[in-house]
Amino acid sequence: ANPSLLILPGDGIGPEVMAEVRRVIDWFGANKNLTFDVSEDLVGGVAYDKHGTPLTDETMARAQKVDAVLLGAVGGPAYDNLDFSVKPERGLLRLRKEMDLFSNLRPAQCFDALADFSSLKKEIVAGLDIMIVRELTSGVYFGEPRGIHKEGNERVGINTQRYTESEIARVARSAFELARKRSNKVCSMEKANVMESGILWRDVVQEIHDAEYPDVELSHMYADNGAMQLVRAPKQFDVIVTDNLFGDVLSDCAAMLTGSLGMLPSASLGLPMANGRPKAMYEPVHGSAPDITGQGKANPIACILSFAMALRYSFDEGAYADLLEGAVEKVLADGARTADLMGPDGGTPISTTEMGDAILA
Ligand code: NAI
Ligand code: MG
Repeated sequence: ANPSLLILPGDGIGPEVMAEVRRVIDWFGANKNLTFDVSEDLVGGVAYDKHGTPLTDETMARAQKVDAVLLGAVGGPAYDNLDFSVKPERGLLRLRKEMDLFSNLRPAQCFDALADFSSLKKEIVAGLDIMIVRELTSGVYFGEPRGIHKEGNERVGINTQRYTESEIARVARSAFELARKRSNKVCSMEKANVMESGILWRDVVQEIHDAEYPDVELSHMYADNGAMQLVRAPKQFDVIVTDNLFGDVLSDCAAMLTGSLGMLPSASLGLPMANGRPKAMYEPVHGSAPDITGQGKANPIACILSFAMALRYSFDEGAYADLLEGAVEKVLADGARTADLMGPDGGTPISTTEMGDAILA
């Protein structure tokens, strides 16, 4: 049977960038005999408009059955005042939670043609290619007890950082597996100097390494130093593994090493299914960009590179992922630019579809 994909274009520019991914998928079918069973469904505001919920049970069930989910983006001003329980992002959170997508992969890769775009000096970022693995389903965003309580005559806000051994072990394994497919190097970041969960994190990562991945080069770093090193000399890293909170902050920091939001893909992986493939959802890092929706200005590259990650991590088609990433690199080197990639000296930007055309060519 063909591998299956569920496409959830979502809101705003989601459907615009996903249309270019559909063309890429069709290209692989027509030219490389790599055919997917593709189905499409609603998520976010468009699902709320039709069904009164940002993700129906039927859509959730379909997501559980397919080999991989591709998501565009959700949200927009029309939904900002909805009740929390039916907000578009609840659809996204439900997918992550029920599929148990605990390992969030955020690459920070600097294409040479865009090195001038980085917030840093060109020498520091040229050729950069690192991967941050963020634990996504536990830690301080989920730990109990939590809440705002009254203590005496003032209020206290409480969140609890909590990690079990197995939660740390599974995300560590995911980072080590990834490292073996890259430069075989993992740096684990926590704050073992001041946090109990940090001590456990460091111990468990080291134990998994020694028992199962002794061939991978492992180092440990305090997360605050990690933030500094990411900006000072990011090329020292290959794979960085870290918890939910530090990963949130460090991955946004790493993102700015590379330039536009329109370039950044991501993957969220869970445990292997019966067929050996991990539960998986792939999505661009950017949101629904209401300011440019419907104008043909959206950069489809983040979404296309998310599909390249699907080829690599869900379908074991690393060579085709390389082919697609190489096409993106070539069109950028040839000067193709959507509006978000235009420098201050201007020039004429191309449209979403024209960028898709260039990559396909
Ligand atoms: P955003 O990522 O949608 O946009 C931020 C800025 O980047 C805007 O100026 C936008 O035009 C630009 N931009 C983003 N993607 C681009 C692309 N592919 N090509 C060219 N330019 C691009 O973030 P914002 O404005 O904070 O949020 C807008 C809506 O998206 C909100 O409703 C928010 O909740 C939602 N959102 C959804 C996410 C998701 O679905 N994963 C993630 C972030 C925000
Ligand atoms: Mg963030």
